[in-house]
Amino acid sequence: MGVVRNLRQVSADDAGVDIAFRADVHAGLSQRQKAIPARWFYDATGSALFEDITALPEYYPTRSETDLLTRHAADIAAAIGPGRAVVELGSGSSTKTPLLLDAIDPAAYVPVDISGDFLRDSAEALAERFPGLAIYPVEADFTQRVDLPREICPLPKLGFFPGSTIGNMVARTAIDLLRNWRSALGDGSLMLIGVDRIKDIGILELAYDDPAGVTAAFNINLLERINRELGGDMAVENFSHRAVWDDIHARIEMHLVAACDMDFTIDGRAYRMAKGETIHSENSHKYGVRDANLLLRAGGWTPLATWDDVDPAFALILAEATEFRSAP
Ligand code: AVJ
Repeated sequence: MGVVRNLRQVSADDAGVDIAFRADVHAGLSQRQKAIPARWFYDATGSALFEDITALPEYYPTRSETDLLTRHAADIAAAIGPGRAVVELGSGSSTKTPLLLDAIDPAAYVPVDISGDFLRDSAEALAERFPGLAIYPVEADFTQRVDLPREICPLPKLGFFPGSTIGNMVARTAIDLLRNWRSALGDGSLMLIGVDRIKDIGILELAYDDPAGVTAAFNINLLERINRELGGDMAVENFSHRAVWDDIHARIEMHLVAACDMDFTIDGRAYRMAKGETIHSENSHKYGVRDANLLLRAGGWTPLATWDDVDPAFALILAEATEFRSAP
C-alpha cells in the first residue's frame, strides 16, 4: 500500500512559479482595497510558520480541535463507521489526521494540499504509520475543481476539513465550496468539519497577534514570497502586521500596513501605497452554533452531530450529503 502516487493539479510557469499566484497578486494589488487571497501564505516557509503558530499558547484552535478529536474519538468513529475513503482538504502537515485514521479504520486516505513539499513529506510519514492504508496525495487548490483518484470511486467518502479553514472564505465562497465538494464526494458521503466559534474579542485578537510575533512573521512572509517568486522589490521592513475583529462580518481580518508612502514593482509593474494603507491578507470567520449549521445546510450538508465542549470554544461538526427535497 503506502503512498500510491502524487496527482499534481496546479500549473507553474517556466520559473516554477504558480500561475494563479502571479495573477492573484497583480489583480489584488490593483484593487482600491488591496487584497491577496490567504492561500498564498503557504509556500514552504509559510507552511512551516503556520506549524509554529499552532504551537503558540495564544493560538487555541489547533489545541481545542485536537482535544475534541482525542476525547470524542470513539463517538466520532461510531457516527462515521469503517471503510470510508477520507478526503482531507488542506491537509498541510496532517498532524491531526492520525487521530481520525486511528479511530475510524478507513479504506483509503486522500490528502489534498496546495503545498507540494509539505504534501509529499506528510504522506510519507503517514504511510509509515499506517502501512496497510492506500494513500493518494493530490497537489491541488481545494477551492478549485479537484479530480479525485479513480481508485476511491466505489468507496463511501468522508470529507475531512479541519482547522477552521472554512473560516478563510466569505460566506458565499464557503457555500460554493461546500456545494462543490458535496457533488464531488456524492450522495451519502459525510463531512467532518472544524469550525471556530465566536468568542471573547480579546482571546480572538491575541490568537492572531501573538506577543512572540510568529503570526506577524507569517503575514510578512507573504510579501517576502512576492519578492522571491515574482521579482518584487517591496520594502518588507516598512510593513507591519495588524489583526482586528470585525463584528459585522464576525471575522478576524489580517492586514499588512504600510508604515510610510512607498513605491515598488512586481514583475516590473509599478505599485504605490500611501502611509497607513493596507493589504488585506486574510479573513478568519467565526461561527455561532446556528450560523455554522445554516452554512452547512446552505452548502447541501445536513448536520448530524456536533462536538464542541472545549474551552476556548471550537466545534467539530459531522454532516451528511442527504438527498435534496424541496420544502416543506
Ligand atoms: C489555517 C486558516 C485555520 O485562520 O486560524 C493562523 C490560519 N492565520 N493565524 C486561521 C492562520 C493566522 C488559520 N487557518
